[in-house]
Amino acid sequence: MLKIFRHNVAVLLAAAAGAALAQDPTAGQAAFAQCAACHSVDGSLGTGPSLRGIAGRKAGSVEGFRYSRALKNAGYVWDARSLDAFIAEPQKALAGTLMPFAGVPDAQQRADLVAFLLTLH
Ligand code: HEC
Repeated sequence: MLKIFRHNVAVLLAAAAGAALAQDPTAGQAAFAQCAACHSVDGSLGTGPSLRGIAGRKAGSVEGFRYSRALKNAGYVWDARSLDAFIAEPQKALAGTLMPFAGVPDAQQRADLVAFLLTLH
């Protein structure tokens, strides 16, 4: 079951990104260590909003979290493509975001990270 799910996520991602990169959510979970200081995956708030259910969630919409005006007004729903762009270069993808993180330059690591984020229901 999990295997089939992961396969579907990978296929969806490849279709969305038009990329030939393999997406490995297990590797993405390991890479998430660099996010975990600020982001929980269980709904609790930290320096950043929880990333539980991030895929398909409206940007800037976690109840009780004080977002920047930029993120609050971003007006889009997170998907594989927008997550990849944001993680690559947060300030470039969304001018005015206050996420204090430079970004992940490595495309493979981002593909894995996004695959992991899509499993956070
Ligand atoms: C030093 C703390 C910190 C680190 C490290 C960090 N973030 Fe963030 N993140 C934040 C903050 C703070 C915000 C809210 C920014 C704003 O309001 O503009 C945020 C926002 C986000 C959002 C938007 C969430 C929403 O509810 O719309 C996503 C997605 C995200 N971060 C993903 C990541 C990922 C993935 C990583 C690791 C590659 C990461 N962040 C690393 C602090 C951090």
